[in-house]
Amino acid sequence: MVSWEELENFCKSCTRCGLSTTRTNVVIGDGNRNADIMFVGEGPGRNEDLQGVPFVGAAGHLLDKMLLSISLTRNDVYIANIVKCRPPQNRDPLPEEQKACIPLLRCQYWLIRPKILVCLGRIAAQALIAPDFRITRQRGIWYDKNGCNVIATYHPSALLRDPSKQIDAWKDLQLIRKKIVELRINDYE
Ligand code: URA
Repeated sequence: MVSWEELENFCKSCTRCGLSTTRTNVVIGDGNRNADIMFVGEGPGRNEDLQGVPFVGAAGHLLDKMLLSISLTRNDVYIANIVKCRPPQNRDPLPEEQKACIPLLRCQYWLIRPKILVCLGRIAAQALIAPDFRITRQRGIWYDKNGCNVIATYHPSALLRDPSKQIDAWKDLQLIRKKIVELRINDYE
């Protein structure tokens, strides 16, 4: 088990995969380290790479709205990604890049020990729930992973590309809200 400081120092000088050669900043995470709810996306985009903060571009604005729709802010959750450095041209992170980076996400997970983990999109769901995860068929279903309540919904970028998916994403958010109430997280009602 490492401390946050050790983890951050490691990430900032990490060269475990090729993405380290093209990054501007390592994007470690954002939000509340004591949160009970963790959101995991895919990987940093251009704005995130420039600012060193996850979900600050268009997808991030939508994620903030999604959180707000169930009365959450970034201060109530912790947000990270499967890979911490930007894949060039925003391509999907390669399996070897994910394999190199996921141990760092696992460290974050154990430091936070969330009660709820939300996978944003296919890449996160395949990495954290099941390698053959089908986002259209398996989103909105709770999985128990060592006592943590894990669910996947559409990635905000997918919702921007195809707004017809927003109805299902909204249903998923309601499931998350219900679970928060059930688990009495933040004594939320
Ligand atoms: N998309 C992601 O998956 N993560 C970010 O941080 C930004 C966009």
